[in-house]
Amino acid sequence: MYDWVDYFHVLRLGDYADFTCALFDGDFSKTLNQAQKDKHEYVLGGLHFKAGDRILDIGCGWGPMLNYIRERGGKGVGFTLSSAQNKYNVSKGLDSRLQDYKTVKPQDVGQFDGVVSIGALEHFCSIEDFKAGKQEEIYKNFFKFCSDVLPKGGRLYLHMMIWGKKVPNPDSFSLNAPEGSEEKIMARTIKFYPGSWLPASKEQLIKCAEPYFNFISTKNGRLDYIETLKRWGDWSSIWGSPIKTFKALWGYIKLLPKLFDPNFRTQLAFLRHSDQSAIFKKEIFTHERMFFEKK
Ligand SMILES: C[S@@+](CC[C@H](N)C(=O)[O-])C[C@H]1O[C@@H](n2cnc3c(N)ncnc32)[C@H](O)[C@@H]1O
Repeated sequence: MYDWVDYFHVLRLGDYADFTCALFDGDFSKTLNQAQKDKHEYVLGGLHFKAGDRILDIGCGWGPMLNYIRERGGKGVGFTLSSAQNKYNVSKGLDSRLQDYKTVKPQDVGQFDGVVSIGALEHFCSIEDFKAGKQEEIYKNFFKFCSDVLPKGGRLYLHMMIWGKKVPNPDSFSLNAPEGSEEKIMARTIKFYPGSWLPASKEQLIKCAEPYFNFISTKNGRLDYIETLKRWGDWSSIWGSPIKTFKALWGYIKLLPKLFDPNFRTQLAFLRHSDQSAIFKKEIFTHERMFFEKK
């Protein structure tokens, strides 16, 4: 999904690179690594995880949560849509599957003690789905799937970006809008995250989960996301290593032909203008970490 962005992200962060907001919880003196580890621990704590538990990670990325579950004596199973991520995870001995959760039958994956989905729900509903009025149906089907693979009392952790002050009108997004406007920032953002649309609110998710899950708690992560993005902007781990510097330069060279692609140039502009950070600072997006328990 993110192809070239992933290349540089993994180069910078190394094995099992988390591609989602860390848990600083207001303590910005933590290292990024510590804050990511604290996130993993926070998730397993909230799931009431114990050694031997089988946990499903829907949208497992480069395996950070699967690896942490393994370190804690559990058995993680991950779904990803990226064959590069899947190949990497399998090479690390993780049970990763190239699998869209929307097409898997619960009986084919068996039962789990807990389910997590970290930074994936943003991709479950596209702009087209939203415009066609399918958003809540998609979320309800997702909660049904999670419910089908959990026992009564089993926990689900959801971690995702959500619309901030209001849900915008996608037809207002325009690359011709004034620089710094919400319309311009969002026009670049949807080129960076194609096929994605956010939940309207945490209340919308609680309502969609309601037939299957009780809502337990949520923790807002907007400020933590701004800090995580700031840390991702630090490339010193690359420039401090000749091998990584060479790989980064090689990565740039391979991207040169893409400069002819207007979508790619818009994606570069998204990064150059630090749009993702601006989105959180302006509260166009917020971020929630939610626990649910199966009824
Ligand atoms: C931003 S990455 C987050 C990865 C990881 N959870 C982390 O914290 O670094 C989103 C992940 O969700 C996966 N994904 C998106 N839609 C999915 C779907 N319908 N079924 C399974 N995985 C999906 C992508 O392939 C990717 O691995």
